Amino acid sequence: MNVLVTGGAGYIGSHAALRLLETGHAVTIVDDLSRGRRAAVDRLEPLGDLAFVETDIGARERVAGVFRDRRIDLVMHFGALAYVGESVEQPLRYYRSNAAGTLAVLEAMEDAGVTRIVFSSTCATYGAPSSEDIPITEDCPPQPINPYGRSKLMAERMVTDLADRKRAGGGDFAATILRYFNVTGCDPAGRLGEDHRPETHLVPICLEAALGGRPNVSIFGTDYATPDGTCIRDYVHVDDLIDAHLASMEALAPGDVRTYNVGTGRGHSVREVVDACRRVTGVDFDVTEAPRRPGDPPVLYADPSRIGRDLGWTARRTDLDTTIADAWRWKREHPNGYE
Ligand SMILES: NC(=O)c1ccc[n+]([C@@H]2O[C@H](COP(=O)([O-])OP(=O)(O)OC[C@H]3O[C@@H](n4cnc5c(N)ncnc54)[C@H](O)[C@@H]3O)[C@@H](O)[C@H]2O)c1
Repeated sequence: MNVLVTGGAGYIGSHAALRLLETGHAVTIVDDLSRGRRAAVDRLEPLGDLAFVETDIGARERVAGVFRDRRIDLVMHFGALAYVGESVEQPLRYYRSNAAGTLAVLEAMEDAGVTRIVFSSTCATYGAPSSEDIPITEDCPPQPINPYGRSKLMAERMVTDLADRKRAGGGDFAATILRYFNVTGCDPAGRLGEDHRPETHLVPICLEAALGGRPNVSIFGTDYATPDGTCIRDYVHVDDLIDAHLASMEALAPGDVRTYNVGTGRGHSVREVVDACRRVTGVDFDVTEAPRRPGDPPVLYADPSRIGRDLGWTARRTDLDTTIADAWRWKREHPNGYE
């Protein structure tokens, strides 16, 4: 299959491209490199039929040309901006990239007659669910609390509205929306890793501290109504997440639109993650306790049973130490990321 991977120079998109190439698919990455790494694409190039086009997904003519030249069959749409705090500071940039960007991708698909998409969404679309809604099912009402979550929910709605319209007209559009929880880890063979700049994710921040690249790790909020007072999240290994993409891709059936949570179904507190990082690295890095950050929901973890039932997917790596060990191996070998 010829798969267009938007955002394929980024953390998750590059892991998807790797797996697609390894399983014999042709991959075309479209990425504006605003957050992605050209070096990640370079590592993928020897692995199969890969083309890279450096462009904003909103550049209509350029993207239309990619659909034509590469005879795209299916889109995996990862390309997005994904920092919650930045989205509060620069909301329009987020609506442009994540909402208008998705609109442009869907228009290009329509023009090219491409009918299959797997869309990267996020648990941020749920906002701050009440304790009765934990673990979170897909039926939990989406009430995002920041522009990032709202821009992703808008993109979801575009996908589902288009799918509904096509179905009503007898068309065969098919979409799967995957709402990821906290993605972590990296390719177990160490070919790709996580290199966000700035880094905002807890595990790579702890690993940076273990390497001496930052003086300490801040825990934001230690007075939540959780067993140890810190926030609880669901950490899913990137390789398991990519399994969910491949399973979704294979299951896409004409007229279908599905939404799935992708998480392990288990929550870990910030303190538990910090302790696991200390354990795995063997480094007792410093931790400071800081006030709560506005808009951090206390507890978010998935009920992933729907994707289990429908696609037979479950997270294979539910042991936090194993996931962190993969990330640590890459981090130690690449202390400056891809540079
Ligand atoms: N990392 C997580 O824990 C997590 C959790 C939930 C959802 N997600 C979603 O997964 C997707 C990938 O996230 P990631 O962590 O790999 O982020 P990332 O920043 O590493 O990757 C995103 C990629 O998209 C590219 N991009 C951004 N805007 C673009 C545009 N307008 N045109 C072309 N390319 C553009 C960036 O250059 C980058 O390479 C995003 O859609 C994000 O919302 C991530």
